Amino acid sequence: MMEMFSHCIVREVVSDIQKHGCFAIIVDVTQDVSGREQESICLRHVNSDLYVHEEFVGIYEIPATTSESIAGRVFDVLTRFALPLSNLRAQTYDGAANMSGHYTGCHARVRQCQPLTLNFHCTSYSSNLVMQNAVISSQLVRNALQWTNELSVLMNRSGKYRGMFRAICVPNESESLHPSAIKPLFPTRWLCRLPAIQSALDNYSTILLSLKEMADVGVTEFATKYTGF
Ligand SMILES: *[C@@H]1O[C@H](CO)[C@@H](O)[C@H](O)[C@H]1NC(C)=O
Ligand SMILES: *[C@@H]1O[C@H](CO)[C@@H](O)[C@H](O)[C@H]1NC(C)=O
Ligand SMILES: *[C@@H]1O[C@H](CO)[C@@H](O)[C@H](O)[C@H]1NC(C)=O
Ligand SMILES: *[C@@H]1O[C@H](CO)[C@@H](O)[C@H](O)[C@H]1NC(C)=O
Repeated sequence: MMEMFSHCIVREVVSDIQKHGCFAIIVDVTQDVSGREQESICLRHVNSDLYVHEEFVGIYEIPATTSESIAGRVFDVLTRFALPLSNLRAQTYDGAANMSGHYTGCHARVRQCQPLTLNFHCTSYSSNLVMQNAVISSQLVRNALQWTNELSVLMNRSGKYRGMFRAICVPNESESLHPSAIKPLFPTRWLCRLPAIQSALDNYSTILLSLKEMADVGVTEFATKYTGF
């Protein structure tokens, strides 16, 4: 039944695009937890009221992240939806060489078949890059972010430290017996950083206390690390 729902939605999206003509594709590739490469495809078009639609139409498995297989899957999906390549006008990718490369990237391969398609660098990636470079220019902010990340990595690696952190958290928070770990900072996703920084700030005294305990009880190089933190 879920499959029927899904086909029904996609058919509707596609018939709307076929009615209005030109469209654009938004493509990204990422691995799922089991390591399979998956290509997500979105279609973007404008209806007769000039209202912009961006519709996700599916995740498709690809054998490798080479530009041939990424572009091959794009052609495959457009053929399956009976969307003519002659109506394709724009493509959006991240900045990876196999996506946006000028000569053999996926965008170049699609462009060989349809020279009218313009290539756009994904706006979210671009703003993330701008933000990253702006932040790196301040040594204080850069170091604070890096240390927050290192702390989450350390906490993830050491069960003993997690246990110590919990032991210090719990007496004052009777209802939350299992406080989550300090969240990691995702290097490529600027917006995910705020929750991580917030959780570190909210628990600053607990963090300091647990680090001190770990530094006091340890004897290995880890104790040195905790002291350093
Ligand atoms: C890009 O494509 C080349 C071959 O075309 C491949 O060897 C390489 O692994 C790909 N890069 C990534 C990051 O997948
Ligand atoms: C913790 O480490 C494991 C591998 O050791 C990794 O799979 C997992 O994503 C990490 N979790 C966080 C929150 O960093
Ligand atoms: C930190 O503080 C927040 C709010 O005070 C709380 O919800 C959270 O469980 C605490 N622990 C961690 C590890 O973030
Ligand atoms: C828990 O409460 C005790 C005493 O009320 C206080 O000394 C300690 O700092 C608190 N711990 C945290 C993590 O807030």
